Amino acid sequence: MILSLTNEYRRIRRLRHDDVPALMAWDNDPDLFELTGKKFSVDENYQDWWASLVRDRTRLVFGIVDDIGRLIGDVELLQILWRAREAEVRISIGDKKYWNRGYGTEALMEALLAAFRILSLERVYLRVRSDNGRAIHSYRKVGFRPVARLAATGRLLGCAELQLMEMTRGRYGLG
Ligand SMILES: CC(C)(COP(=O)(O)OP(=O)(O)OC[C@H]1O[C@@H](n2cnc3c(N)ncnc32)[C@H](O)[C@@H]1OP(=O)(O)O)[C@@H](O)C(=O)NCCC(=O)NCCS
Repeated sequence: MILSLTNEYRRIRRLRHDDVPALMAWDNDPDLFELTGKKFSVDENYQDWWASLVRDRTRLVFGIVDDIGRLIGDVELLQILWRAREAEVRISIGDKKYWNRGYGTEALMEALLAAFRILSLERVYLRVRSDNGRAIHSYRKVGFRPVARLAATGRLLGCAELQLMEMTRGRYGLG
């Protein structure tokens, strides 16, 4: 799913077709892969990826931008369960010079605003490596609380344990 946002959102925006090559390049960065476990498969064509994203009603991706509108990463709501009103969130600032400058925290706050206000979700959760101190600190600032420890799965299998964290509409202040 692709969604346009009003201009009260300043750190995230509608993802564009021409953003995809940058997202693919960042996902193939080994440092990022180690933290996110996410990678485009080598044979994935970006036109096909875009077409399947546009059709997918369980997944919504936004671009993250700097102060002059340059793309620096992406934040995604995925596994959206419309009846249960919940989704997972995943975030990655691909351009590393933007790490630790507050952009991730701001982007996540805005993605949650979209999740709770536009999509009317009640709960958003995420999974993060327990040794990813920067990400966990940022998630706590936003209001995520740890709810469980999980064994790593998928491409993070064999790596650190994961923390499951969640955020609710009520804690965000939207009742
Ligand atoms: C995780 C990520 C989205 C956070 O965004 P960011 O813009 O870098 O983070 P912010 O600057 O908003 O906040 C980071 C906070 O963590 C702190 N921090 C940095 N390194 C830390 C560490 N090793 N341990 C604890 N806290 C740390 C920073 O000081 C900052 O806190 P402060 O604002 O109170 O000083 C971004 O760094 C990123 O995309 N990283 C690579 C991919 C990744 O890890 N994705 C998450 C996968 S679950």
